[in-house]
Amino acid sequence: MVGGLFRSSTRDIPDVSEVPEHIAVIMDGNGRWARKRLLPRVAGHARGVDALRATVRGCKDRGVRFLTVFAFSSENWRRPQEEVSFLMQLFLKSLQKEIRRMHENDMRFRVIGDLSKFDARLVDMIREAEALTADNGGLNFTVAANYGGRWDILDAMSRLMTRDPQRRERFTEEELASELSMNFAPEPDLFIRTGGEKRISNFLLWQLAYTELYFTDALWPDFDVDALDAAIASYQARERRFGRTSEQLKTRSGE
Ligand code: IPE
Ligand code: IPE
Ligand code: MG
Repeated sequence: MVGGLFRSSTRDIPDVSEVPEHIAVIMDGNGRWARKRLLPRVAGHARGVDALRATVRGCKDRGVRFLTVFAFSSENWRRPQEEVSFLMQLFLKSLQKEIRRMHENDMRFRVIGDLSKFDARLVDMIREAEALTADNGGLNFTVAANYGGRWDILDAMSRLMTRDPQRRERFTEEELASELSMNFAPEPDLFIRTGGEKRISNFLLWQLAYTELYFTDALWPDFDVDALDAAIASYQARERRFGRTSEQLKTRSGE
């Protein structure tokens, strides 16, 4: 299912495949990883890039079609200025370093989030990277930067209303979904959060409606392909009912 078909897990029952088609990740715990080693927090962010590279490759090798990672939330501006600047520099440098390899691997790179507050150089580089990989058919790798789930929903709703101010009927889920920044992807099948916290922190609020949630205490720099496999194995042991009963599912599979 690729762009154009705005299906919603609350309106249609999605197909469920053995390997999650879309994995969304909150990469949390970099600061604690560094503090445990008496290093500055930013050292954890630097190591976090290595864990991300391994996860991207792991997803590609396992046939995952969409990987979406939360790199910087709309609330992360509240952090100390030095940490925010470091994260922006790290994003720029990592993109510079990795984009060619991503392209060679047929990956499609995108960034979602409000880029209006970002440095112009970083925005240019992001747009170039997106254009370079726009025709690639492999893994869809998306980075959420200055992203917030509430911002996304409000932005989508405002666009719908501006476009059609006379409208009297209610908007549909499909119409709203078509304006969200993840409009090119099916809703995530599996959500992973590292670092032990059990919250969504304003990530993909709309899209996580029926996503299977997986929380691990592993700190993000320690997350590796074995940890990814553990998350996928947990996903595979779940029964995704989408509101139906277990008996209904059994009857369907017996058909
Ligand atoms: C996640 O790690 C990375 C970002 C939010 C950019 P943290 O920096 O939140 O690490 P902890 O949660 O403080 O350990
Ligand atoms: C969520 O992590 C955002 C990212 C990983 C980019 P945070 O560390 O910012 O989340 P809270 O503040 O603990 O909820
Ligand atoms: Mg954190």
